[in-house]
Amino acid sequence: MSQKISISFSKTSSPDSGLVVLLCAKGGDLSGGAAAVDPGGVLKRAMEVAEFEGKKFAALDVLVPQGSTADRIAIVGIGDPEDLKSDDWLRIGGAIFGQVKTSRKVTVFADAGQTEISSDDIANIALGILLRSYKFDTYKSKKKNGDSKENKNTAITLVSGKATSAKKAFAAAQAVAEGVALARDLVNEPANILGPVEFAKKASELEKIGVEVEILTEKEMKKLGMRALLGVAQGSARPPRLAVMHWKGGKQKQKPIAFIGKGVVFDTGGISLKPGAGMEDMKGDMGGAAAVIGLMHTLAARKAKANVIGILGLVENMPDGNAQRPGDIVTSMSGQTIEVINTDAEGRLVLCDALWYCQDRFEPQFMINLATLTGAIIVALGHHHAGLFSNDDELCERLSRAGKVTGEHVWRMPLAPEYDKMIDSKFADMKNIGGRWAGSITAGQFLQRFVNDTPWAHLDIAGTAMGSPQTEINRSWASGFGVRLLDELVRAHYEQ
Ligand code: BES
Ligand code: ZN
Ligand code: ZN
Repeated sequence: MSQKISISFSKTSSPDSGLVVLLCAKGGDLSGGAAAVDPGGVLKRAMEVAEFEGKKFAALDVLVPQGSTADRIAIVGIGDPEDLKSDDWLRIGGAIFGQVKTSRKVTVFADAGQTEISSDDIANIALGILLRSYKFDTYKSKKKNGDSKENKNTAITLVSGKATSAKKAFAAAQAVAEGVALARDLVNEPANILGPVEFAKKASELEKIGVEVEILTEKEMKKLGMRALLGVAQGSARPPRLAVMHWKGGKQKQKPIAFIGKGVVFDTGGISLKPGAGMEDMKGDMGGAAAVIGLMHTLAARKAKANVIGILGLVENMPDGNAQRPGDIVTSMSGQTIEVINTDAEGRLVLCDALWYCQDRFEPQFMINLATLTGAIIVALGHHHAGLFSNDDELCERLSRAGKVTGEHVWRMPLAPEYDKMIDSKFADMKNIGGRWAGSITAGQFLQRFVNDTPWAHLDIAGTAMGSPQTEINRSWASGFGVRLLDELVRAHYEQ
């Protein structure tokens, strides 16, 4: 992140310079600060001329009225304040940041005319600002040495009668913003820089904030019998890793909850090589692992009262003289054998050993895995919902609700014996693809064979982790999808 944003909260403010942002509810009701910056009362006229009616997320840049102390005034629409959900407040925060441009001092009057905004929603505005301000420009050489204003700090003050409680609520929001930024950074980072070993090192860095981290090497995984995961890695010059993170924020005897991420640092398809066009996007095939590490950061940073396991299966899928071939049969840690029909269906081979290991070692309350698993889920759901596959209705309900609260939406897809049959193999216990149809479902069926009776959900985030349309709260290729969703799930149900 090149732009440093500092956010503060204040009960009163007399802005003497800088950008002033006013909120405008449907019907033209402006926030209370209007009088201070618009002594002549000309803002109303400016809004009329621009036909600005306070539509949600719309913004208006107004010439500074005579006599005003502000350098710039921007008005951001919020629609009907009664209708706004937490996701809307986030996006309002994003729309506010969209108006910041080159201003370094910003005052936001965070009230909606007659309606007070709750402290949680003010914290959501602040989170929206931080999410929108994220930028990945590590490799832009000019900006770093150059003279751009972008490297300077921007100080944003949110003015509200609820400043004290909003500041408290913001502490958790800041932890969320950091977790999302970490996930986005990892997905945006190219694979020449971020191999399995480097990725595992990122996990180890969480030790600084109290997460216990173990990194399993190839030798240790061999001993455990993780031949499915190792088969994927064997074509790469860079060795695989399994990262196991443990956040112990709950009572000692409380069973942990577990999150498992697909961390294919680059997916060429292996011997079943992918076509060249667009292959560069496969640097993001570790979006699941990135979300899990981002989530663990957030939970530890906000000291969540829960015991949480995070597991990352880290490999690179390359074609090579040592690479596995179509037709190879591998024995997974569970003892089940897999015929590898297509080496490009590698994510499930990585996850099946990680899932088995997780339930076998930790006996968690539930396991949720995240994976950029199939192109088929993009065909089914596009970029606006992640596919949800699960053996547990309650977990699905909770995930759907968390999706609505955060705006990181999930859509449940079916699992059924008819689909399961599609991955039976002639030579082994199963094969790693199910044929042309229902590709994301047969991938889910495959994973289900490795969860035993543990309540489990699989989130296929191929369409939502990267390359999705720009929103009010994300202007980067990587979205960090999953961090906010799962943080909300934990907050709502698993902290005592
Ligand atoms: N990593 C891909 C899935 C993917 C596709 C993620 C597009 C993000 C964007 C996965 O490993 C893959 O290649 N899946 C194959 C499965 C097929 C061989 C059964 C696919 O979706 O084509
Ligand atoms: Zn693949
Ligand atoms: Zn993949």
